[in-house]
Amino acid sequence: MDHGSSTTDIHRRPLGVFDSGVGGLSVVAELRRLLPHEAIVYLADTANCPYGPRPAAEIRALAEQATAFLLARGAKMIVVACNTASAAGLAPLRAQHGPDLPIAGLVPAVKPAVALTRSGTIGVLATPATLRGALLEEVIARFATPAGVRVVKDSGCGLVEAVEAGALDTPATRARLQQALAPLLGAGADALVLGCTHYPFLRAGIAALAGPHVALVDSGLGVARQTHRLLHERGWSNPGPAPGRLDLYTSGDPAQVGPVMRRLLGEELPVCASWR
Ligand code: DGL
Repeated sequence: MDHGSSTTDIHRRPLGVFDSGVGGLSVVAELRRLLPHEAIVYLADTANCPYGPRPAAEIRALAEQATAFLLARGAKMIVVACNTASAAGLAPLRAQHGPDLPIAGLVPAVKPAVALTRSGTIGVLATPATLRGALLEEVIARFATPAGVRVVKDSGCGLVEAVEAGALDTPATRARLQQALAPLLGAGADALVLGCTHYPFLRAGIAALAGPHVALVDSGLGVARQTHRLLHERGWSNPGPAPGRLDLYTSGDPAQVGPVMRRLLGEELPVCASWR
């Protein structure tokens, strides 16, 4: 499929980034740190959030719909800022669009967790679809099993909804976190994989419950590096010098989602409806 890669000003076109909701903004933060000149169009697919409990075929269809939206806004590449959509939809998306459209996606950060553990047990906190997906099994088989590291998992029930509501540090969220972390910490995990892009926004609460001897790892920087490599090898990087702009969209209600997005970003940016 031709996505206009021959266009001479392709380096100025934005990165298209999506998640089921606001969680992918944790990836946006890493992208902006590493690639400050790249423009970004971000879609929070709030109307369909959460993706985690949905069947894989449905998640794939939503990922394709989000990709189509971002391509219509001129995206030169796609960053799937969602572990769940990466687990279910990365391979089909790449197959559908072919090599003309670079697509970066998330792999659960099992490799760094294996490098950090001293107890020999790591925990993975991710959505049900990510825990079921082949991608997690692949990285466990590749990095944890050969090192003799045990992997315990939990689906972090209700935590995505808490971040979507902006309830980062409420008694209810702390109680949910305690419930989600108990089986992982109880099993002796001393490195936790934050396998959902919403969870880095709960890092302070997780760290408070887990204690200083437990390492927390996520895939945000990894996907930013992958994005940098994909742009660099094509000569598509934006050389600057101006900082890249960030355009925010939601498939939900901007009046509700906007304040949460602005709070998570720490910036007063407008949020538009993707359906208008
Ligand atoms: N942010 C998501 C992830 O990384 C999706 C959460 C959800 O919609 O269930 O998995």
